[in-house]
Amino acid sequence: MSNEKHENAYIIVDQKESDERSSSGSSTDMYMTTVSFTIKHFLSLRMQSCWMLAQAQERVWSLGLAKTVPSTVAIHAVDISTTFFPDPKEVPPNVHFSHNTIFSLPAQWTCHFDFISLKHLAAAISVPQWRVAISEFSRVIKPGGYIQWTEYDWDTWSFSKGPSNESYKAVVLALLKKHNVMVNISSDAPPLLSEMGFEDITVDFRSIPVGSSLGDEGMKGIHVIKSGFLAMKPAVLRYKGLGGMNSEEDYDSLVQAIEQEWMNGLGGEVTGFCVICARKAL
Ligand SMILES: C[S@@+](CC[C@H](N)C(=O)[O-])C[C@H]1O[C@@H](n2cnc3c(N)ncnc32)[C@H](O)[C@@H]1O
Repeated sequence: MSNEKHENAYIIVDQKESDERSSSGSSTDMYMTTVSFTIKHFLSLRMQSCWMLAQAQERVWSLGLAKTVPSTVAIHAVDISTTFFPDPKEVPPNVHFSHNTIFSLPAQWTCHFDFISLKHLAAAISVPQWRVAISEFSRVIKPGGYIQWTEYDWDTWSFSKGPSNESYKAVVLALLKKHNVMVNISSDAPPLLSEMGFEDITVDFRSIPVGSSLGDEGMKGIHVIKSGFLAMKPAVLRYKGLGGMNSEEDYDSLVQAIEQEWMNGLGGEVTGFCVICARKAL
């Protein structure tokens, strides 16, 4: 085992950036299009069931999803931060936001959910913590229930066909290593799920349109991905020289270079985003 000291802090530390992303709803729209409603088991789960979304920060997603299913579907959205919980007046009776950690879900939720969705949590969770979280998910899902786990697969991620791709990837991978974050999610998550009692595990890769050559959707992609890069800046700058970044100017110029590549047609369908589905054994 490595003796390297890992940081526990959450990588997306710029609350303002996250806030802007959530309130603009643009990342939500994008992921709704690319992921949410292509849920493999969505149709069979639409009628009468109980879902948990480990992602209450995305209130737009949670409330949007509720509109697409009958009110008989109970939706529980959990998060350790209540910052983005909606005004209770906006929340329909079948949707429940609660302040909970995925490492210790309520005892009364054992075998409670037909479906669990988690999305973009990996930057907040270390490799050993995933073992605890997946074991909790396994406890609270009913036998035969499904889990859908959507993350960037940073190892296979490629966001530009230009030279900045490798430079920026080096920065992100160095940051993830500092935090002992799961980098090869598409290959490391399935064995963990299997060990925790899940079967029928599938991994699908998805892409996001980014760049001026892909019209409005590509421009929206630039906004979403660039916001994510800017949200990571404070975490990168906490470590002197990480991935060659010695100052804010270094970081900003790398992000500008990437944006320029996207504007020059070097974006495209950005790969490295995976959706893992699994069923809890009967
Ligand atoms: C990057 S955001 C992702 C939000 C949203 N799912 C999305 O796709 O944009 C990660 C969210 O996970 C929450 N989070 C981090 N650690 C958590 C934990 N142990 N239990 C529950 N939520 C957690 C954070 O508060 C934050 O709202």
